[in-house]
Amino acid sequence: MHRRALLLFLVLFAVAARAEGPDQGAQLARFGKWDIGIPPCDKCHGTDGRGIPPHFPALAGLPASYIIDALQAFRSDTRRSDPQGLMRRVAKGLSDEEFAAVARHYHVQKRAP
Ligand code: HEC
Repeated sequence: MHRRALLLFLVLFAVAARAEGPDQGAQLARFGKWDIGIPPCDKCHGTDGRGIPPHFPALAGLPASYIIDALQAFRSDTRRSDPQGLMRRVAKGLSDEEFAAVARHYHVQKRAP
């Protein structure tokens, strides 16, 4: 019975993911939004968000809610810890929907060992 429920969940999840079209989060992470000058997140945060110490923190495996909160704080200038306003610039170019998609994307990436 449990397996059935799990299977049903997976099918529904796949259908929902498809309805959204190509994975918007992965798209942002790997290709950015060059049309408005936003580089791919992975360029600064490392492949699959594994981080490039000491200045570019890892995103892989972080709770999606943490990532969304951070992006909102950068966008509203509440968080100003980013050198040269790098993250504030990135966050100001993204919608709430894009925050959620990219947060989901990084949440499921594997953390660096
Ligand atoms: C031009 C380089 C650059 C790009 C591109 C970039 N970031 Fe960042 N990001 C940074 C830097 C530098 C910091 C560290 C800022 C700080 O300490 O406040 C940071 C911090 C963050 C944090 C906070 C992490 C923490 O541990 O609190 C999140 C979340 C984040 N970035 C998400 C993203 C996402 C999602 C994208 C793509 C849409 C992205 N970043 C693109 C440079 C970048």
